[in-house]
Amino acid sequence: MARIRGTTRLVGLLGWPVAHSRSPQMHNAAFAAMGLDWAYVPLPVRPEDLEDAIRGLRALGFAGANVTVPHKTAVIPLLDEISPLARAVGAVNTLRAVEGRWVGENTDVEGFRRALQEIGLSVQGQTVAIIGAGGAARAVLAALALEGVGEVFLLHRSLDRAHRMLETLEASFPAAGLRLPPVHPIHLEDPLPEGIVALIHTTPVGMAPDVEACLWPPDRPFPWGLQAVIDLIYEPPRTRLMALAEVAGIPAYNGLGMLLHQGALAFTLWTGQEAPLETMRAALQELDSS
Ligand SMILES: NC(=O)c1ccc[n+]([C@@H]2O[C@H](COP(=O)([O-])OP(=O)(O)OC[C@H]3O[C@@H](n4cnc5c(N)ncnc54)[C@H](OP(=O)(O)O)[C@@H]3O)[C@@H](O)[C@H]2O)c1
Repeated sequence: MARIRGTTRLVGLLGWPVAHSRSPQMHNAAFAAMGLDWAYVPLPVRPEDLEDAIRGLRALGFAGANVTVPHKTAVIPLLDEISPLARAVGAVNTLRAVEGRWVGENTDVEGFRRALQEIGLSVQGQTVAIIGAGGAARAVLAALALEGVGEVFLLHRSLDRAHRMLETLEASFPAAGLRLPPVHPIHLEDPLPEGIVALIHTTPVGMAPDVEACLWPPDRPFPWGLQAVIDLIYEPPRTRLMALAEVAGIPAYNGLGMLLHQGALAFTLWTGQEAPLETMRAALQELDSS
């Protein structure tokens, strides 16, 4: 538990809701391990109050914040500066105050990339499938582009929406030096070709409390040659999709790796210090066993 003093620097999490978040435990454990006089607090903010909340952070002298659902895009026009990567993805998940100016960054992209590297999966020149086309899918697509992915199948319930997302990214990626790989939007139920190395689920379906929900029917076979199923959900730590993959003999990973690495990158942006990764990982895992 952080000891709050008159000198304590504050950061927090803007979202609605935020009660489920593991970020306060992760960051407060990191501040304590590094002996930093900092604290991380949950900041539940309704969508209609976001502008007031950002003004409040400025007035209260916060050093920065994380931003989560549903504010990652809505926060952009309220800031003084947006990093090229956050602008390319159209989503901000980290804010930092730099000499009174509020800068929006995106650490989800590099966070997912590091999580991918950590599980030892190379996607360079390979084919990958993504389920969903929201903010997390855009970050995953940027990370895959940085990793040199060959091509991507984008499974979505609305082909129109998937095409619209791709048009936006085609226009926004080059400004951040990103090359959009060939992406094929298909319906959720459409068959997937063989040779896909990773299936990445980026929708909230299956997240607590609806833990039985799953967009992958139990009798649908996974594509031949699949090496990993990655679910960005971490609550529950083993989703129904992950369980189906494991039954089929395919290694499955939850979203804790991405959460850890995006958090570590935010920690460094705020404090200028390298994050104590293993302390943060242990704090996240402790919550699973408590
Ligand atoms: N592990 C991490 O660090 C991390 C980081 C970021 C996000 N996440 C997780 O990723 C998930 C998505 O976040 P997000 O920011 O991308 O949300 P988002 O921008 O709201 O996008 C959600 C996507 O899921 C689709 N979707 C929602 N309900 C669906 C359903 N019943 N059937 C089919 N598709 C459905 C949406 O489709 P429509 O476009 O048709 O609405 C949209 O494409 C959340 O569970 C979040 O917690 C995890």
